Amino acid sequence: MDAQARLIHLLKLAHAGEKAAAYAYAGHWRSVKRPPERERIRLMEQEELAHRACLHRMLTDFGEKPDRGRERLMTVIGRVAGAGCFVTGWYGPMYGAGRIEHRNVWEYVHAATFARECGHAELVEELLTMAEVEWDHEHYFRTQVEGHWLRKILRPWPSLPPRTDLRIPEALNALAAGRRVAPPHA
Ligand SMILES: [Fe+2]
Ligand SMILES: [Fe+2]
Repeated sequence: MDAQARLIHLLKLAHAGEKAAAYAYAGHWRSVKRPPERERIRLMEQEELAHRACLHRMLTDFGEKPDRGRERLMTVIGRVAGAGCFVTGWYGPMYGAGRIEHRNVWEYVHAATFARECGHAELVEELLTMAEVEWDHEHYFRTQVEGHWLRKILRPWPSLPPRTDLRIPEALNALAAGRRVAPPHA
């Protein structure tokens, strides 16, 4: 598969994934009681929908359409996750969301790398901005989880590199290759 085919594949995965995320957060923010938590997660729901619109435009520009089967699957997963937030307690949804957001950062980092490789530099900025927003989401959930006693039983996932690394081409290349290097100015 060449870089453009990989990019389109990732755009389709992300487009469907954002739908699941938006449905999940729609349930999540309604299930928590503290106003700051409700507001932050509700904002995430809106940010995921904005990402979805952006991805849809990118796919359309490539003459592509979302993967209908994947969209249906993610609709079910998102709705189940959103409903589950009302019965699983506080920690589980915070933990699960953080793990998924962690993966989302990598998804957009890889997409940005493929976009650059296949000569679509104009997409890199938007994809990296989405990676940064996912980084913020992951950071929020990590902070929540690390402040809870259950972290000793269900430990937090591996940490992400610093947010600023997403803007450094050398670091970005290493990240996309699954490695981690110090940024050149460090
Ligand atoms: Fe997103
Ligand atoms: Fe997110």
